[in-house]
Amino acid sequence: MYILGLESSCDESAAAVLEIKQHKLKILSNIIASQINIHARYGGVIPEIAAREHVLNILPSIEQALQEANLSPQKLHAIAVTQGPGLVSSLLAAIESSKTLSAVWQIPIIPVNHIIGHIYAAFIDLKQSPKFPIISLIVSGGHTNLILMKEHYNFKIIGETRDDAAGEAYDKTAKMLGLSYPGGPIIAQYAQKFRDIHKKCDIELPRPMIHSKDFDFSFSGLKTALLYKLKKDKNWKKRIPEYCFAVESAIIETLTHKSLKAIAKYQPKSFVLAGGVAANKALRKSLSQEINTKFPKTKLFLPNLAYTTDNAAMIASAAYFKYYKQKDKSFLPYHKLKADPNLSI
Ligand code: KG4
Ligand code: ZN
Repeated sequence: MYILGLESSCDESAAAVLEIKQHKLKILSNIIASQINIHARYGGVIPEIAAREHVLNILPSIEQALQEANLSPQKLHAIAVTQGPGLVSSLLAAIESSKTLSAVWQIPIIPVNHIIGHIYAAFIDLKQSPKFPIISLIVSGGHTNLILMKEHYNFKIIGETRDDAAGEAYDKTAKMLGLSYPGGPIIAQYAQKFRDIHKKCDIELPRPMIHSKDFDFSFSGLKTALLYKLKKDKNWKKRIPEYCFAVESAIIETLTHKSLKAIAKYQPKSFVLAGGVAANKALRKSLSQEINTKFPKTKLFLPNLAYTTDNAAMIASAAYFKYYKQKDKSFLPYHKLKADPNLSI
């Protein structure tokens, strides 16, 4: 079986070809046309520009994905596409392309929730697949969720952010520190510089909701706390690595603490880290150390770096498991598919 995956929910136009043989998933191509350099000038994603770029990039990305996979469209069995959540003007590019191609190639469309897509990145190209029950921590620019799965395509949200997402906290604090967009990778770089040279950080930032009884998160207070620190510190521009370390530590400690709390309660066989922030080395290390020592029965799955930030391979992977779990095997007629910017899980 071959699935063409399409994704355009934010600022990446992506197309990928997935091959499935005896339930083994293999990515034959994974094309991502990123707009990061364009939006970096404005310090964040400008929806109108993103939409126009998607229109230019989506068809060439699809062509390239098929070419690299060395596959003709006649061999495809389905098109998987992100239905939401995301920016509506961005989502439309992949959705409208999928509808046209579905009509021309006479193959069905499998709509996928973007957040679920991030989880299914963990089922690609790994020697071993996560085993149920699974808890996933999805940390991206738009979402921070802890999701429990007892089987494929069965999701229970056990924790979520009450305000900003973890990636958003990285992006917004980076902006306050005069750093470029996206903030995650650059804060991570400076934080590592600080770790390499110094031992003690003198900047204390809050770990919001870390002691709350639930599994929810709140990151908006971090911005405010940082703002007050910067206002009081005339020398802050000379202490960028230390500030980055303080921000990153607050985010990582909070994410790790709540993840461990969820593992303690639900005792999952696997813990999956997913989403753009899953590319963060310090977070990967913190979760590995803590889970391995405190919960050795829970196996941690860290997705391949190529599948952490937005991509279409994860969308194709999720679509396969969605189709596999679906009892009636019928498909939504393509003309009925609509983008849903607020699609829930
Ligand atoms: O999943 P993603 O590509 O898009 C959304 O669905 O939002 O995630 C993008 C987010 C951004 O907020 C970016 O700052 C963050 O992921 N990110 C990182 C790293 N790489 C990307 N955050 C921390 N460390 C990184 N290395
Ligand atoms: Zn995403």
